[in-house]
Formats: sequence, C-alpha cells, structure tokens
Amino acid sequence: MRVTRRKFGQSGLAAGVAAALPASLMSACSLASNAARGGHAVIPAESNGAYLQSTEVSFPKNFVWGAATAAYQIEGAPKEDGRGESIWDRFVHTAGKIKNGDTGDVACDSYRRWREDIALLRAMNLKSYRFSIAWPRIQPLGVGNANSKGIDYYSRLVDALLESRIRPFVTLYHWDLPQALEDAGGWPNRDTAFRFADYVEVVARALGDRVSDWMLFNEALAFTYNGYLDGTHAPGRTSIIDFLRASHSVNLAQAAGFHALKAISPSARVGTAFNMSACQPATDSEADHQAAERCHAITNLWFLEPALKGRYPEALAFLPETIMRIKSGDLDKMRAPLDFVGINLYYRTIASASSAMERMVHPTEWLLPVKMRAGIEGTKTDIGWEVWPNALYSIVTRITRDFNRPQIEITESGCAYNERPDGTGVIRDERRIAYHRQYLLALAKAIADGADVRGYHAWSLIDNFEWAEGFSQRFGLAYVDFKTQQRTIKDSGRWYAKVAAENRVPAVTSAA
Ligand code: FCB
Repeated sequence: MRVTRRKFGQSGLAAGVAAALPASLMSACSLASNAARGGHAVIPAESNGAYLQSTEVSFPKNFVWGAATAAYQIEGAPKEDGRGESIWDRFVHTAGKIKNGDTGDVACDSYRRWREDIALLRAMNLKSYRFSIAWPRIQPLGVGNANSKGIDYYSRLVDALLESRIRPFVTLYHWDLPQALEDAGGWPNRDTAFRFADYVEVVARALGDRVSDWMLFNEALAFTYNGYLDGTHAPGRTSIIDFLRASHSVNLAQAAGFHALKAISPSARVGTAFNMSACQPATDSEADHQAAERCHAITNLWFLEPALKGRYPEALAFLPETIMRIKSGDLDKMRAPLDFVGINLYYRTIASASSAMERMVHPTEWLLPVKMRAGIEGTKTDIGWEVWPNALYSIVTRITRDFNRPQIEITESGCAYNERPDGTGVIRDERRIAYHRQYLLALAKAIADGADVRGYHAWSLIDNFEWAEGFSQRFGLAYVDFKTQQRTIKDSGRWYAKVAAENRVPAVTSAA
C-alpha cells in the first residue's frame, strides 16, 4: 500500500472496509460484467492524447479563470478575533504529524494580508477567487450565534473582491472542523451534519446578499478517509467504522447544508468540490475492468451519487448499512440537486483485481477486491504525483455522460514544483506552465466533446501550508517567502495571466 497524502485513490481501501463488513455480504460484491464495462472510459496507457500537441486553444466565451486557496492553508491568526480551535490547530501541534513540525499558525498571514492576495488575483487577470471560510471563526465552538468579528473578516474580503470584479467562490468547509465538535464525536457523529447546516445558515445570512456561488465541501473523501481511516490528516483517527459513519454524516450534511443555503438564497449556485481521479484498469482483463468500476465508485461517486441520485453507488452495493447507521428515510435526506459539480483533479489511478492468492493471504480483501495505485508512466511533480492530463479529459467526459451533462467547475488542479527565485529574483517554473497548459488542453478537448465546463481554478494562488507536507511543497502561481511573507508572481503566474486575459492557451513557443 502506498501511504501518502494521496489517500483513497491509491491505497488498499479494501482491507479497511472489509474489516468492518459481515462475511455474509461477500457474495453481493460481484458486478455484472456488462455493467462494469458499460460506459467505461478506458485511457489508452500508451498515449496521453495526441491533442496535447495542439498549438493554441480558445475557451468558450464567459469561461471563468480563477485560482483557489483554503482558510487553514493561508490565513494564520488562529486565535485572532475570537476564532475557536479547529481540528487542524490541534493536529499540527501533535508531535510527529506534520513534516518538519510545520504548522499553519502563521501560514501566509492572509488574515492580515488579504489585500495583497487580491492584488495578485488582479495582476493575474483572474475573475474568480475560490477561498474557504473557517468554521471556527464563525462559530468558535461549532454552535450558536455568529462571531461578528469572524463574519467581518470574510465580509471585507467579499466586498473587496466584488469591487475588483472578482467572483467570490466560497467553500464552506475545507477541513477545519471546530475542535469542540470533534470532541463531541466529530463527523462520525450524525449530529455534526445538522451542526453543519446551522453553520451554513449563519454564513448565508451574513454573506448571501453578496456571494452567489458556493461549495458546501472540499474533497469529502479526502477528509473522511485521511482524517478517520488512515489518520494522516486531522483529527488523526484510524477506524474503518469512523470512516464509514463520517461518510454518511457528510452525505447528510451535504444535503442539509444545500437546503439551508437555498432557503436563504434561493438563486444561489450551490455545488461541492469533489476530489476525483480517472480510474484505469491495469490490464484489459474482465476482472481489472470490474476493479476499475469499483475504484470509480469509491473515488468519484461516494459523495456525488448520494446527492444527485439519492443512493450509494451500485458498485458498492454491499454497504454495511447498520454499521454506517443509515436510517430509513436517509437516502432521500441525502439528495441535493447540486447546481454544479466541482472537480478537483490532479492524477489518475490504476486499478486491478486482487488475485485469489492475495485474497487468501489478506482475507479482508474479499469484500472490496480492488487494488489501487498511482500511474507511473508520466513524469512526477515534486510531491510525487504523476502528471497525466488525460485524466482530466477522462473524468470530465465521464461525469458529463453519466450525470446528464451537469455544469462542471474545475475547482482545483495544479502541481507542486519547488523552484525558488534565481539570482535576479525571478521564479522560472516552466514545469508548472507545462502542467497547466496540458491539463487545459485536455479540458478544452472535453468541452469540444460536449462537456459544460464553466471555469478553471488553479491550485493555488500562492504557495501555502500543504497539510501533512507542511511548507515543503509549493503549488502557488505566486511564490511566498515564508520569512518575510513577500509574494512574487512566478513565471507560471504571468503565463496564466495571459491565458486569462486572452481566454486561450497560447502556442507552446510563447508559453514560457
Ligand atoms: C487538494 C486539497 C488542497 C490542496 C491540494 C494540493 O487535495 O483540496 O487543499 O492541498 O490538494
């Protein structure tokens, strides 16, 4: 098993899930072969798409160019203005959890320097800023009335963005649960779903007159899996049962939050940012195709199908309902007709079936026979993730096909490359330009093939605190000197500014 921050999509989920399941459910696990193959987007292993050679590609009129950040990764100021403790504050101060003992106590100091961040967005000609609201700034203990100083911070940010004609694109939950709610059971506690809906209501009342585009969650799979099953993220628990229960609470919360928001702002555009990956069978065997479908169900549908179809994915039909504490009527309660599907995509996943021998050696793999690993044919970014632009094409076209052509927002894509300023202070990050260029060409092809994609948000506007990796991985279009907090636009930021201004990806010769 590959144990990195890249979680679910590349680990032996099988072992954990199966451990929690009664053996009598085993037989329900086999999929009809036709169903497994139907609609499967096979990515040719040998090619990453000839279209990536295209010289220049334009995007649709009104396509929105943006960049993304998240509160805990940039704000710092954990105790300022009455902010409560979050699970990330607790986690980063637990020995051994974060590389080099880094914390987000200061991060990019954006709680004070948000005007500088807006100046960067303007300099890059961006028209959408995806940022998140820290729940413990709004409700320090996760319940009750709004902390007005917390609201004021986001209110000022929103107003300044609007003045700059930049869309505030707000994520309501990017992983920083108030610690008090974790102490009360955290996401595995069903009640947290309703606390979330209350919080959404408080925020909607405060900002709903000016914010019209929202995401309920960022990467529900990542924070439930890493937080409750593999323990590499806050709150650091390692329990399959907690993971399953957290999943169900989040699915309930997603719908409850959706309806709370719509009740206050009926015309708001409300979605969620899902972490997705293109699941590719390791070989053309029937068994590997089935494995790839299970990989797809776990990775991409676990929180999407409940919202859009009021059910858990069929490929995981053996779900342990009692262990997950699914109550009668819950499937309807999970429904939320999201206005758009937010896709965070960085890489693909290779899926294969576990062999009979492997299942004998690891009996827990009987129930979810799929092994998932990272692709290895593409180049790697500095964090070790494979560059595979065709994964974006593949997932965008598949979601388009399987969910009746929903509106899609690319809510994140990006790469960790750790170039630093050269002798003249310039950050020559050609590799980042090449990454975004190729992913954008893949996206343009998906749009040409019929996908309704409304915008692209590069992760990230600025280098920031990369969770368990601390400050060791730089994803920004702008460089941050973490000693002085000085921000400097990288070559990639200049290139992206041109893309945004011209609404097209230029020919490669003019890229760098
Ligand atoms: C995504 C997260 C985001 C950032 C990028 C690199 O999974 O949503 O906060 O860490 O990865």
